[in-house]
Amino acid sequence: MVDALTMLALAFVLIHFGFPLLYYLYLRSRWLNRSWDLVRDPSYRPRVTIVVPTYNEANLIRRKLDDIASQDYPRELVEIIVVDSASTDGTPSIVRGWMESHRDFKVILVEEGVRRGKAFSLNNALRFTSGEVVVVTDADSLWISRDTLANALSWFSDSRVGAVTCLKTPVGDGFASVEKGYRDFYNVVRLGESKKHSTPVFHGELAAFRRDLLVRLGGFPTDIGADDSHTATLIALRGYRAIAADNATCIEPVPAKGYHMWRIRRAQHLIQHFTKTLRLLPKAPKEFKPILLAETWLHLANPWLLLLAAAILLYKALTGSPTAIALLIAGIALLLFKPYRTWITTQIYLITASIRNIWTKEIAWRKQEKACQ
Ligand code: GDD
Ligand code: MN
Repeated sequence: MVDALTMLALAFVLIHFGFPLLYYLYLRSRWLNRSWDLVRDPSYRPRVTIVVPTYNEANLIRRKLDDIASQDYPRELVEIIVVDSASTDGTPSIVRGWMESHRDFKVILVEEGVRRGKAFSLNNALRFTSGEVVVVTDADSLWISRDTLANALSWFSDSRVGAVTCLKTPVGDGFASVEKGYRDFYNVVRLGESKKHSTPVFHGELAAFRRDLLVRLGGFPTDIGADDSHTATLIALRGYRAIAADNATCIEPVPAKGYHMWRIRRAQHLIQHFTKTLRLLPKAPKEFKPILLAETWLHLANPWLLLLAAAILLYKALTGSPTAIALLIAGIALLLFKPYRTWITTQIYLITASIRNIWTKEIAWRKQEKACQ
């Protein structure tokens, strides 16, 4: 006979795994393969300001600027701003060197005297931007194809689009394969959400925003870490679309060292973001509300159901319940399966991140070494 407490644990397990699975299946079957309800002009080329925030990126900044320069986009429509926050490894002088050898590009170097975090530096850069669209891109990311920028920006030809991000493919040794399993799942979710209305999770590899919307929002939020996702969500909350583009995929470098800390810090940022949007949920546009609700649940509440279920089962197992012992053993044995293991690890990151958020927000974070350099 299964007692009430064990039943409760089972219910938690069912919701914990069932909800994300149903959400994924719903997006995949109902939205993923639908055609976009947006009118995209592939030849649309708005004036663009590309902002690269840097903190100690001496190893990567040259490659990043070369990658931007190699984009197939009319040069006279591109402006690049590198905003550096008091790097100690000589990043600004490398940028100055690059500017010298690429006089055909309009490049502005903004140097901050003190480091106050990525979002703060973006707001500093915003004052110098003139493009119709502002693209923020991390120094360690690459855009893969020469069309990435043009592809991503073409979505702005539809005036309903307020923000665009890329899909991601992880690159690196070791943990990159873990990251890949996780990405395939999330790319489907991001795209499904975008076709339905908007995705509340944006990527630092390529996050493009209509400049006038950024100005209206008063810039990027500096009190939380996920500047890109939060800004995109605020834009979607205003009724514009904030989408992940299926014609723009970027390389996401996975750190060789400090992978766990990297995942926890990013989870912390997303939790900060979803906590901050909680009070705005009632105001969300009809199509976007269920998306925001689902993602908020997945980041803020769902992981805790797993922890609660595990705690109940452990308690029951210790007090001699054979059912609880069997369930715990099954739960552990399943770790042999990679997708399950990847999912459980993500839940552990999310729980650790919520706890860590109590004492540190990681606004100016420690840099992780990248594998693919
Ligand atoms: N100017 C400036 N000032 N740039 C910074 C600072 C800062 O204090 N801190 C980090 N950056 C720059 C880095 O140099 C890099 O170009 C970019 O911001 C992203 O930093 P990474 O250290 O590569 O962080 P990540 O890849 O783990 O961060 C990801 O998640 C964040 C949110 O959790 C990216 O997607 C970020 O864009 C995103 O904000
Ligand atoms: Mn990075």
